[in-house]
Amino acid sequence: MIKFIKVEDLLQIRNEVLREGKLTLDECRFPSDNLPGAFHLGYYANEELACIASFHPQSYEGFTGAGYQLRGMATAEQYRGKGFGNQLLNFAIVYLRGQKANYLWCNARKKAVQFYLNMGFEIISNEFEVPVIGPHYVMYVKIQ
Ligand SMILES: CC(C)(COP(=O)(O)OP(=O)(O)OC[C@H]1O[C@@H](n2cnc3c(N)ncnc32)[C@H](O)[C@@H]1OP(=O)(O)O)[C@@H](O)C(=O)NCCC(=O)NCCS
Repeated sequence: MIKFIKVEDLLQIRNEVLREGKLTLDECRFPSDNLPGAFHLGYYANEELACIASFHPQSYEGFTGAGYQLRGMATAEQYRGKGFGNQLLNFAIVYLRGQKANYLWCNARKKAVQFYLNMGFEIISNEFEVPVIGPHYVMYVKIQ
């Protein structure tokens, strides 16, 4: 089941999956988490939070219309490859279409590029390095 959740609910998984469990929960917050229009989604499997993603209004240079940025996409290790990430992102895209968003973009880890390609995203940047985390690409999907 997919739900809108509070940022506090997802910090644990964000830490475990995206920060190797090395940070305090407060250090896992993004400055964008509480921007106006920001929202967070969680996929629950048997009452347990399995997959998370966060979204906030943010345009990307060179693109017109209303853009949203996806951040903190993560599926707990034991729940990967079950289609939860796919379902969560599809839910978000349908919701964002209703919010009149025109496109969604993210800084995608190189390891996750295939996941986003499967979701219909395309690569729109050269490869770039995020310190400590590794190689990334900017990826984009048109919503309407
Ligand atoms: C990327 C991630 C969020 C995908 O979540 P998930 O719930 O496992 O994804 P799904 O099960 O919905 O996968 C959907 C499809 O993408 C594929 N896929 C998922 N992760 C993949 C990966 N890392 N590499 C290649 N393919 C991947 C799946 O095989 C599946 O393909 P299929 O439908 O043809 O079988 C998850 O692997 C994860 O948390 N990874 C570590 C953190 C991370 O890299 N987050 C992204 C930051 S940009």
